[in-house]
Amino acid sequence: MIVLGIETSCDETAAAVVTDEGKILSNVVLSQIESHQPYGGIVPEVAARAHMETTDQVVAQAMNDAGIGFSGLSAVAATGGPGLIGGVIVGVMTAKAIALGQNIPFIAVNHLEGHALSAGLANSDVRFPYLLLLVSGGHCQLLVVKGVGEYRRLGTTIDDALGEAFDKTAKVLGLGYPGGPAIENWAKNGDNQRFSLPRPMKGRPGCDFSFSGLKAAVKRTVDDLPPGQLPEKDISDMAASFQQAAGECIIDRTNNAIAIFKQTHPSARHLVVAGGVAANKALRGELEKLASSHQMALVAPPPILCTDNGAMIAWAGLEKLKLGETSGLDFAPRPRWPLDPNAPKAVGAGIKA
Ligand code: KG4
Ligand code: ZN
Repeated sequence: MIVLGIETSCDETAAAVVTDEGKILSNVVLSQIESHQPYGGIVPEVAARAHMETTDQVVAQAMNDAGIGFSGLSAVAATGGPGLIGGVIVGVMTAKAIALGQNIPFIAVNHLEGHALSAGLANSDVRFPYLLLLVSGGHCQLLVVKGVGEYRRLGTTIDDALGEAFDKTAKVLGLGYPGGPAIENWAKNGDNQRFSLPRPMKGRPGCDFSFSGLKAAVKRTVDDLPPGQLPEKDISDMAASFQQAAGECIIDRTNNAIAIFKQTHPSARHLVVAGGVAANKALRGELEKLASSHQMALVAPPPILCTDNGAMIAWAGLEKLKLGETSGLDFAPRPRWPLDPNAPKAVGAGIKA
């Protein structure tokens, strides 16, 4: 089976062709970063327009690189949500048109499920159930992945996502968008103990996260530094101090999640990290140590499969296709689409600092 996957839920227009054996025949990612940079963050209208202008070309490129014609496709998958709805509509409509034209199934994929299952594309040894830390620009969750479409959420952020905290910190430090890779780079030469920053939720029971207090503390601390252009040393030290504090929170909450996960799945061996922030090497290193202290192995997809891409959507589409789960052409794009519909709303969720 060969599936075309289309991803348009945020600021990347992406398409990829993947086989059911996990071979990536093509993987095209067109970033809109330059269009959003002047605003210091993603502007939904700008994103929607850019997806409209480029999705056809990105799909054509992916098909060309794969070296197969549309008639070689078994199905076409697209992110059906959650995400910026204008972009999601563009991807879904493109996929539906191809499905209709080729008379092949259309599969709407939950973007978070794309991230969640990307571990299986990167590493064929991963078996359900596994514990998943999903850290991206819009989400920060710990989930038990019992199987395709079967998720139990153990924790989520009650305010900001981790990627959002990286991006805001980078903005305060004048490092531009997206902030994650910039913070990681500047942190390499920084003193991670120089600035004393809070570790929200650390030491508390449960697996929920909170990053708005950390974000606010970064801003306050930087505002208190002498006015004018920040010296490079201050930027490095703040990037390192922030990354250290955020990392400690993640490790603390994941440690609690492992204990809960092991109660019901004592022989499960895999901790998976996915989503854009999973590209962060310092975080991966800490998670690796944590996993091995619990006789578990960390599985982290290569960075190109951590940030948004079409291959993870094609792969999730393939997993659903194997189960005979396809979508109707009347599927309506979803701005919200929780992986675990039974999870209660996190206490304090939605309150933005
Ligand atoms: O998964 P993703 O590409 O898009 C969403 O679904 O949100 O994640 C994007 C997020 C951004 O916040 C970006 O700053 C962050 O992932 N990110 C990183 C790194 N690379 C991307 N954060 C920390 N370190 C990185 N190396
Ligand atoms: Zn994503």
